[in-house]
Amino acid sequence: MGVNISSERRRTGYYGRRILFDDQEIDRIQVQHHFAREAWNGNFSSPIKDVLNAGGATVLDIGCGAGTFLCEMAADYPNARYVGVDKLQIFPNTLPKNVTFIQSDILRGLPFDNDSFDFIYIRFLVFDLADYEWRMVIDEMTRILKPNGYLEMMEPRIEMNNKGPITEKIVNAIQVRARSRHLNPYIVDKFNEFMHSTNKLKNIKYEVKRIPCGKWGDKQGELGAMYMYEIFKKHLHYVNNIQPNEHDNNLNNFLKEIEQFHTYFEFVRCFAQKIKKVDVD
Ligand SMILES: C[S@@+](CC[C@H](N)C(=O)[O-])C[C@H]1O[C@@H](n2cnc3c(N)ncnc32)[C@H](O)[C@@H]1O
Repeated sequence: MGVNISSERRRTGYYGRRILFDDQEIDRIQVQHHFAREAWNGNFSSPIKDVLNAGGATVLDIGCGAGTFLCEMAADYPNARYVGVDKLQIFPNTLPKNVTFIQSDILRGLPFDNDSFDFIYIRFLVFDLADYEWRMVIDEMTRILKPNGYLEMMEPRIEMNNKGPITEKIVNAIQVRARSRHLNPYIVDKFNEFMHSTNKLKNIKYEVKRIPCGKWGDKQGELGAMYMYEIFKKHLHYVNNIQPNEHDNNLNNFLKEIEQFHTYFEFVRCFAQKIKKVDVD
């Protein structure tokens, strides 16, 4: 398996980054981006295309990593301005004119005024934010979102459905390790409640995308298998109660089982609009 990120894209500046992550991790994030966009048939679900096209809209990506999402958005909707925030400096060195990156830790609060952005996006932080940190992060994003602006979140549920015995063992080991670090593999199940509890968001929508894993699910299934394979490979590395020499065997068996059992997992997108003061009165 392997997705070829073309040398053309490697020259665009998306890849001109300072390396603090290793290359493999950056490539994994890039592959993840393209896979997610294909799976959802677009980079976002919020109804904000008109706002982005109108000119002067501001977009923020939290935990933006290598900036792939933002740079692509900047090309697709060039009339808007984009800001990426990440606690690590892995942004590209060469940026489109309408993109800025800021190194900042969301858990310390973000250096933006109230009501600053038309669209705020966060995704793929399920292995970065502790269960008890999400509510604070959502409150902070809501604070800096403009009235009528949209907040959108996208994460996988770290679970497999229709799974064989080896897949069960792998998923269980990864979930146990995640929970020991206060991460919640099922954090997506709380997104709705988190958004409601801000009392500042309305039109809350929750979308679930079922992602097949394996050749039985055609092209998307192959990408889904590769996505989960990479997550498993990365996180199994840290699991102590499975011997390292067992990992390769387990991963190979996972690839066989998903074809036999028609295994799938789920992505969730949750998005909502910030209430205007007049809406509350
Ligand atoms: C798996 S990567 C996802 C990157 C990007 N969202 C994407 O979809 O390609 C998670 C990113 O979140 C960043 N991150 C984790 N915790 C953070 C925090 N507290 N504040 C800001 N960034 C954070 C990490 O440095 C990493 O770049």
